[in-house]
Order: sequence, then structure tokens, then C-alpha cells
Amino acid sequence: MKFKFIMAVVSVLLTAATTVSAQQKNDTFRPKEIWKDTEGNAINAHGGGIMYHKGTYYWYGEYKVGKTVLPSWATWECYRTDVTGVSCYSSKDLLNWKFEGLALKAVPDDPESDLHPSKVIERPKVIYNAKTKKFVMWVHAESADYGMAAAGVAVSDTPEGPFEYIGSFRPNDSMSRDQTLFVDDDGTAYQFSSSENNQTLHINRLTDDYLKPDGTFVRRFIGLAREAPAVFKYKGKYYMLSSGCTGWDPNQAELAVADSIMGEWTILGNPCTGVDADKTFYGQSTYVIPVNAKKGEFIACFDLWKKKDLADSRYIWLPLQVDKKTGKMSIPWMASWNMKDLKKK
Ligand code: GAL
Repeated sequence: MKFKFIMAVVSVLLTAATTVSAQQKNDTFRPKEIWKDTEGNAINAHGGGIMYHKGTYYWYGEYKVGKTVLPSWATWECYRTDVTGVSCYSSKDLLNWKFEGLALKAVPDDPESDLHPSKVIERPKVIYNAKTKKFVMWVHAESADYGMAAAGVAVSDTPEGPFEYIGSFRPNDSMSRDQTLFVDDDGTAYQFSSSENNQTLHINRLTDDYLKPDGTFVRRFIGLAREAPAVFKYKGKYYMLSSGCTGWDPNQAELAVADSIMGEWTILGNPCTGVDADKTFYGQSTYVIPVNAKKGEFIACFDLWKKKDLADSRYIWLPLQVDKKTGKMSIPWMASWNMKDLKKK
């Protein structure tokens, strides 16, 4: 009787402890560590992008669950998980994220669909179109062998979705793999994508509704094999953080700058500093969040891919610091940090 009572008390205490820990607030960014959402589950939003809308941040990413496989026909390391969809999380403070569900869902019953589990959906990015009042998502839409090299587009009336998938195409009839979107201050949007077999980057200007390229594009970083582009603007100049092209394996990051988005880009070099900076801390760029662009406060977001267990891939979010005197940008390694580390040095 006494034993039963003690066990009951222990079980009540354990349940209470779990509930408390599930609701525990994150107060520090801890790159590479498991990052829990407000329900206590690991955040699952890889190759992602952040959209700020009406006081809330939305994080969209590849929702990777289940086994990682290397297809039997693979001639390279195209480790993959089945397509499940694109997840959406919301947050007010960039630290505590609420899972909003799948903004774009897989389509298991149509083997022809780009969203069929057997395909590949990567690097989702969402932007808001003030004219049409629609949220527009672009993804890298792929076949399992990465031969399709296309962009897929989906739209929604609300940030959380559900997004309606419109279809895929090759922008300006060119291959399109790793990609990102950028909206300039005048509302014009651009897609940056690794094209020409990942060797050259294309900057495609989009139509006013953001659903298609408008036909104007430029080839930049010709033959330099840049991937994982993340674009931001600071003091009237455009910056692009990117990786080299080594699949899921890390390489050295690079920052480039341009006076005009479709103009000439100048390579600035590797902005990462500290331990493992030559390997981007074992991460790969995916997005730069302008927390307060005017004040030079940015967060650089990287994926830490685990190629043999992609579902356990993590995140490396770090302050991108702008030196007060020289204007030089750097991304120093920090095992843990908080918002005050974003301030200019
Ligand atoms: C990387 C790319 C990832 C994914 C991977 C597949 O280069 O950045 O998004 O496509 O290759 O191996």
C-alpha cells in the first residue's frame, strides 16, 4: 500500500517535471544543440527561411522525418528522406518557436506530383506580396536523382498556410537548385539560384505577383560554384552569404557585396571567425535575418547537416556583426549567445 502510494507520488512529480520542462522558455541561442519548440519537440525546419510579418517571425523549412537512405542507384552521396512537406513555426522573439504545422504538405497519392514522398523538396523561402496580399513560397523542386533542377511555387492567404502548390518550372529555362528569395525596398523580388549545373548563380527578377520570373536575369559568380545563397541589404548595399558546392559536407563560406542587385558582385571572403571557421563551423548557409537592418543587427542562419541521419540535422544561428569603424562583417563562433551579442562591436 505504502509502496503504491510512493509510486503514485513519484509518477505525479515526474509528469509535472516533464510538463514544466516542455514549457521551459529558451533564453539563449545554442548553435548545434537540439533546439526545442514550445511543445518541447526538436524544431524540424531545415534549409529554411524566415519571414517577418506583422510583428511575428515565421520559420519555414524542410520537414525531415524517418530514415535517411542512399538510393541503390546513387552514384554520389544523394542521401535523402522522403518528402513530408514544408514546416512552419512562429515566434515573437526568434528563440521560442511554436509549431504551426505543415504549411505545404506532401502528396502521397500522386506519384507524378513534385510533392510525392519519392521526390525532393528543399530550401523553401516565403515572401509576402503587398499588392496581391498573398504569401508566396518558392522551393527547390527535385527528382530523387537531382536531375530535375527546377523551382516550385506555392501560394497562401495566411502565413501558416495551407499553401496551394501551383507547379514547377526552370526559371528562364535554366536549371535551378539551391535558391533563395529577396524582396528589395521598392517591392521588387528576386530569386537567386544555383544554375548551370551549380556552376553559375542566376539572379532572376520576378513578376509583380512574385509567381514567375519576369524574363530579366543575370549570370553572376560565373563558374564559381556557389550554393546555399542568403541575401540581405545593409546601408544601400546588397550582400550574399553562400557556400561552396560539396553536397551535404561543409566547406568555407563566402560573403559578397554589390551596389546594385543585378550589377557586379565583389567577393569579400570568409566572414566566419573562430574555431572551425574554415568549414563554416560544419554548417551551410541558409538565411540571414535582418533583426534591425538599420542598426546592422543580423543573424546568420546555417544548417548543420547530418547526411546519414538527416532528420537529426541541427541549426547554427550566429550574430553577423558589423564593425563600427571599418564596416567589416564577421560571424564569430559562439557556443551560446543572446540578443545583446547582435549589437555592433
Ligand atoms: C547541397 C545543397 C543541399 C542539398 C544537398 C544534397 O549542396 O546545399 O540543399 O541539395 O546538396 O546533396
